[in-house]
Amino acid sequence: MAGAAAPVDPTTTAAWARLFSIANDFTPDLRTALGDDPDWVQHVSLRVGDLHVDLSKNLWDDGILTTLLTLADEVGLPERRDAMFDGTHINATEDRAVLHTALRLPSGSSLSVDGQDVVSDVHEVLDRVYAFAERVRSGEWTGVTGRRIEVVVNIGIGGSDLGPVMAYEALAPYRQDGPACRFISNIDPTDAAQKLEGLDPETTLFIVSSKTFGTLETLTNARLCKAWLLDRLPEGTDASDAVVQHFVAVSTALDKVADFGIDPANAFGFWDWVGGRYSMDSAIGTSLVIAVGRERFAELLAGFHAMDEHFRTAEPHANVPLLMGLLNIWYTNFLGAHTHAVLPYAQLLHRFPAYLQQLTMESNGKGVRWDGSAVTYDTGEVFWGEPGTNGQHAFYQLIHQGTRLVPADFIAFANPAYTLTDSVDGQAVDVHELLLANFFAQTQALAFGKTADELRAEGVAEELVAARTFTGNRPTTSIMAPDLTPGVLGQLIALYEHITFVQGAVWGVDSFDQWGVELGKQLAQQLRPAVSGDADVTARQDPSTQSLIGYYQEFRR
Ligand code: F6P
Repeated sequence: MAGAAAPVDPTTTAAWARLFSIANDFTPDLRTALGDDPDWVQHVSLRVGDLHVDLSKNLWDDGILTTLLTLADEVGLPERRDAMFDGTHINATEDRAVLHTALRLPSGSSLSVDGQDVVSDVHEVLDRVYAFAERVRSGEWTGVTGRRIEVVVNIGIGGSDLGPVMAYEALAPYRQDGPACRFISNIDPTDAAQKLEGLDPETTLFIVSSKTFGTLETLTNARLCKAWLLDRLPEGTDASDAVVQHFVAVSTALDKVADFGIDPANAFGFWDWVGGRYSMDSAIGTSLVIAVGRERFAELLAGFHAMDEHFRTAEPHANVPLLMGLLNIWYTNFLGAHTHAVLPYAQLLHRFPAYLQQLTMESNGKGVRWDGSAVTYDTGEVFWGEPGTNGQHAFYQLIHQGTRLVPADFIAFANPAYTLTDSVDGQAVDVHELLLANFFAQTQALAFGKTADELRAEGVAEELVAARTFTGNRPTTSIMAPDLTPGVLGQLIALYEHITFVQGAVWGVDSFDQWGVELGKQLAQQLRPAVSGDADVTARQDPSTQSLIGYYQEFRR
């Protein structure tokens, strides 16, 4: 397959110049925009799969929308999207195809990449994962002493952790009877110590998840868990039998898996064309398959695929990931936004912002384009968020009245996962309705604010009018679905994957490499002797680092 086409510097396009001049004269007025054009809401409220996406409370109009779409054309975004889907090596710095979309192609479809039919490879592994998960769940797969598995511990970090954890939490109502899951990621020994607490080694299964099988944190934690297991199993238990029964692996480096002592028959592969942060729907999701079962995982994949098809085929004006990605470009490069909040009004999505942080920031936090040329514009917003309504009582003050523009995505579901009814003065109150009232209220307050005149009309004392005024015109996108099902979760994740793609394509960055994490890893290796007291290595460090290591040496017990 041919590699990536040369990136276009977006600042050289006519659309970029036009957007600049629009931005210069732009005074957003959402009250008028929504009030004067009752069709606007219908025009930019889009349905994709089970999602209803209302883009009407953003700071734009038809002219901006059309110019953003022109920008996408001028930088060659449609061609790059097609190149991604057909397996071209668009990950230029690693010379790889980018095919997480192939992980959710239905069985029976076909896609040949570098001469290999990837769909049959994907389904071969998927079937093995499903069969293995069923054996664990049914009790056919046992620990070395013959007892059934009660807890599955996924050991991984970054993309080999965040997706499985997020989805395990999000799909809690869909977990079936069977093993519970725990997740160890951090090299902080507290993580392994706490997660292993209370576990019975005879009924614990470890999944070592690492694309490279070379990640310090994961290999360290895997060794800790192996030692923990072997120390606690009944005396006389054969160590290699124990590892075979209690350790499986997910990796692209199956040779390294064997070196760890894990039976290659118990290893599930994936491919270098799946980026770590795009891998939760590969075998990296094995813990999730064990938790929710094959049918639910298949629904999740179908949700991803529905969004892929939408992104690939929907016409630009109705293409939700395209429009949301372009809106982010508008805010970042023309209106001066630096961050983007994602605010799920669903406790089950409490790890979704953390998941998105890796997806978006590891992908688009780049200062050079994919041909190595330096960018001259901002890239990569800082994604962050917390579930509503917790965030309301923490940081929403800044979003409502601060000096910074913070575009925000609000996510909510028509139906709750759990129905609870409060009783107030003898009246039944559906608590989910309280949650939704807050969801609707926040985007309304952000969009329309409250004027000084309105405050005065309410009798607010003059000296408090300024402090209590809300400027409004703070942009939000509302995303709703009937329920948080596995399929809806797949649609949501793929939506953000493609938003990330769109932004990366406009900026001309390689959204699929992550060289920025390497330097710190190398320095940590070099510094280890210094931390252990090697005076020569310490003496070669900068004065600040020497001083910090000195502090550590003084106070360590
Ligand atoms: O260091 C960053 C990173 O490479 C991520 O991209 C990746 O998801 C994570 O580390 C874990 O890598 P692996 O799955 O190879 O252990």
